[in-house]
Amino acid sequence: MTASDILQRYISFFENKEHVRIPNSSLVPQNDPTTLFTSSGMQPLVPYLLGEPHPSGKRLVNVQNCFRAKDIDEVGDNRHTTFFRMLGNWSLGDYFKAEQIPWFWEFLTSELKLPAQKLYVSVFNGFNDIEKDTESEQIWKKIFEDVGLDARERIHFYGVDKNWWSRAGLPQDMPEGEPGGPDTEVFFDFGTTHDKKFGESCNPNCQCGRFLEIGNSVFMQYIKRNGAFQELPNRNVDFGGGLERLLAVVENQNDIFETSLLSPVIKEVEKTTGQSYAENKKMRIITDHFVASSFIIANDVEPSNKEQGYILRRLLRRGIDNLSEIGASDVTPILESIASQYKDTDEKLKEKFEKIKGVVLEEQQGYKETQERAKAFIQKKYPSAGSGQVPSTASSKGGQAGQAIGDELMGVTKISAEDAFVLYSTHGLSPAQIKSLGLVFNNQEFARKIQEHQQISRAGATQKFAGGLADHSQKSILGHTATHLLHQALRDILGDKVHQTGSNITSERLRFDFNYDKPLTDDEIKKLEDTVNEKIKENLHVHFEMIPLKKALAIGAIGLFDKKYQEEVKVYFIGEYSKEFCGGPHVNFTGEIKRFNIIKQESIGQGLRRIYAQVG
Ligand code: SER
Repeated sequence: MTASDILQRYISFFENKEHVRIPNSSLVPQNDPTTLFTSSGMQPLVPYLLGEPHPSGKRLVNVQNCFRAKDIDEVGDNRHTTFFRMLGNWSLGDYFKAEQIPWFWEFLTSELKLPAQKLYVSVFNGFNDIEKDTESEQIWKKIFEDVGLDARERIHFYGVDKNWWSRAGLPQDMPEGEPGGPDTEVFFDFGTTHDKKFGESCNPNCQCGRFLEIGNSVFMQYIKRNGAFQELPNRNVDFGGGLERLLAVVENQNDIFETSLLSPVIKEVEKTTGQSYAENKKMRIITDHFVASSFIIANDVEPSNKEQGYILRRLLRRGIDNLSEIGASDVTPILESIASQYKDTDEKLKEKFEKIKGVVLEEQQGYKETQERAKAFIQKKYPSAGSGQVPSTASSKGGQAGQAIGDELMGVTKISAEDAFVLYSTHGLSPAQIKSLGLVFNNQEFARKIQEHQQISRAGATQKFAGGLADHSQKSILGHTATHLLHQALRDILGDKVHQTGSNITSERLRFDFNYDKPLTDDEIKKLEDTVNEKIKENLHVHFEMIPLKKALAIGAIGLFDKKYQEEVKVYFIGEYSKEFCGGPHVNFTGEIKRFNIIKQESIGQGLRRIYAQVG
């Protein structure tokens, strides 16, 4: 059974249970700069989990390409990857635990034919006012007993650290308005011997590699309000299972990189480097990073020092470094093998192959030149600092190259935190690379300098949220409605060619990006503020309607019309003033916004401008 067979079976299984298949959303969320990458299947569905009706109904199924930047440093073991495909099914206030749990069990044991005795589960143990999930426990108990297995051995209880899911993680880390809930997870037992390095005894959540989590049913029924949890209007199910992991268990292969999907890529790395995988697990990092980079480039991202481009650059440079550490530089055969391995489910990698290859080769060349410049910078400013040979990012603790220079130095050279920061930000050297050159600097001062830089560029799955808002606090909702007013006012004042290219709303301020090629005059800024404030004063009613796409276009609703909404789109109306395609949420009346002030405008690239404003 190949990965694409598993995918087909999964989709058909849930389609037979009246689920409607929804498309795989873009890996880089469109018109939603509040999150860098789609990192779970539920991310594009947040407004619907919060209670808005979904155009495709209450039972949904899909496969979603996901990227988790926070997993970059975990890549290297037998199961973590930054890019993966998540199989998802959702109940938006329809079925709940009594259906979801037996269905997933049926899929695993009847469709994938996994042996029941290889499966273990975890269940939520309770937290503050949220009770232990005895309902799931009872359902699992019956399932295990029906196949003659001892439920007490099979069901394991954990607290919020393991069996609670929200985009922000733990309950205390969830922002206002964020949905979340307890979950139940299924694990496959590879039966390998427990490694005591990971604890005295083994359990499904042990990291020794014996168990692999293959599916997570989140009972998304709570929302955070005023620091506590309230019931959402609907009791939802949000299920996610990693396709690559399911393939691993179907093949009883506890190393994800040795499955039929990824082993051909590893073989290509072996061929290119002349080394063996058995002796060189760096090949996992190389494989993962080039897979993820291929998908990110196929989504039209190019390496840069900002946002998605920064993450792509980090992945490519780590991939290139790890490859050169084991003696090779030719990435083309590896990229070819990746495009071919994913062709059944993602034709895009084949279609865009020349582009992917071009971007990777250009970055490789650019990286080499950057390192040469770093070398020249060090030699010029600190002639005593050895040969200035730049070690790779792969050797985080110094590695051989750095060590050799360290020896030559016969000591260390003190450099200013400023210069360390230049090496880091301009020349792309990590702090570990700088240190391994025998260069020392004031760590605290350096940390202060990079902190701001990192805050801007670090991937945001945990800091940034989907759905157009950084959180769903009341203040953000006011800001969200204000962006619709601002959008329309900009078109009234600057012309209909102007449209939104992005937005980011927090409870402190709103940010709105649009296409326009010159700074706004003071007069234009004032007119914008006056128009929005006038609409606030008119206390216009805000409501949405689900309407056919054709009609939405005919009435002149603005916004991005994604192909995925083939039949119906959701349009928010603000009185007669604005009609915009949007997922919500919004205020009921514009008067709730009280006041709107523009605090700053700036250019964010050729023909693109950004406005910062405050409400309330
Ligand atoms: N949202 C959950 C997860 O990402 C289940 O889909 O694991």
